[in-house]
Amino acid sequence: MYFLHYGDMTDSTNLIRLIQEIQPDEIYNLAAMSHVHVSFEIPEYTANADGIGTLRILDAVRLLGLEKKTRIYQASTSELFGKVQEIPQTEKTPFYPRSPYAVAKMYAYWITVNYREAYGMYACNGILFNHESPIRGETFVTRKITRATSRIALGLQDKFYLGNLDAQRDWGHAKDYVRMMWMILQADEAEDWVIATGKTTTVRDFVRMSFLEVGIDLEFKGEGVNEKGFVKTCNLEEFQLPIGKEVLNIDPRYFRPTEVDLLIGDASKANNKLGWFPEYDLKGLVKDMMQSDIKLMKKQQYLEKGGYKTLNYFE
Ligand code: GDD
Repeated sequence: MYFLHYGDMTDSTNLIRLIQEIQPDEIYNLAAMSHVHVSFEIPEYTANADGIGTLRILDAVRLLGLEKKTRIYQASTSELFGKVQEIPQTEKTPFYPRSPYAVAKMYAYWITVNYREAYGMYACNGILFNHESPIRGETFVTRKITRATSRIALGLQDKFYLGNLDAQRDWGHAKDYVRMMWMILQADEAEDWVIATGKTTTVRDFVRMSFLEVGIDLEFKGEGVNEKGFVKTCNLEEFQLPIGKEVLNIDPRYFRPTEVDLLIGDASKANNKLGWFPEYDLKGLVKDMMQSDIKLMKKQQYLEKGGYKTLNYFE
């Protein structure tokens, strides 16, 4: 049986009452203001929810005397590595956070380690590299790309805008990563773990791969803010666009005050000690996201044409 409770990471009394009522065996703290760019706009709230919020959970468990019962998973992040001090990044790589989000997450990381060491709590950090899926929020770059690609391929949108195409990320499938979160809390010992695929790809190549899923090969011309993406060939009858059509522009609004240029993780510890390996590669992830968004956008296209009466045709 599942219950949904109202909670807020900035409200200690609420968290204490909830944990007292539920007496959980496991807590997965995935709550956060998780958008890196937005954290530059609301740094204080981000510190409160993402940093102090983690302390509130840990301390609620301690205060309620649940240190030996409740296991805690803390959603740490590859953003901690920021301006990377080592390639690839492991559990031992020093942190260099590059955003208010990452700085808040750094506090959360260390307070988790501290409560484990000080009070013998089973509290772990999963240092997860970017993980994506068809239900990824629409303002994160992968979903923004797969949604826009689908809309453009279906003729619902002319073009779209991105920021830094050179950024490189180690993208995995959320399904693989959530499985690992659970595995982390089942391990004999509480430890911290890097979870990654070990491969890195530019934002530009993610765009390219998304368009290839609908048979469209792109070419990129120009540099910096003047770089643009154009249709080179269309290889599927269903998705035909004019050759040379401009589909991608750069908008400097999406540049960050300080950027994380390159992330690539080494998950050897998780591979060797817990037997975790991802089932999806990047191609499989892009395919999953594109298939889902094409279906979603076809539904929108149908609705826009007034076909709402037979909506279940697509479900
Ligand atoms: N969001 C966004 N929008 N990012 C863009 C855009 C754009 O239009 N254009 C280029 N990018 C670049 C960003 O500058 C960044 O380098 C990269 O794409 C990835 O951006 P996001 O998808 O927003 O993710 P993130 O890497 O900053 O952070 C995500 O992953 C972390 C690691 O797991 C978030 O989910 C974090 O909460 C998470 O900790």
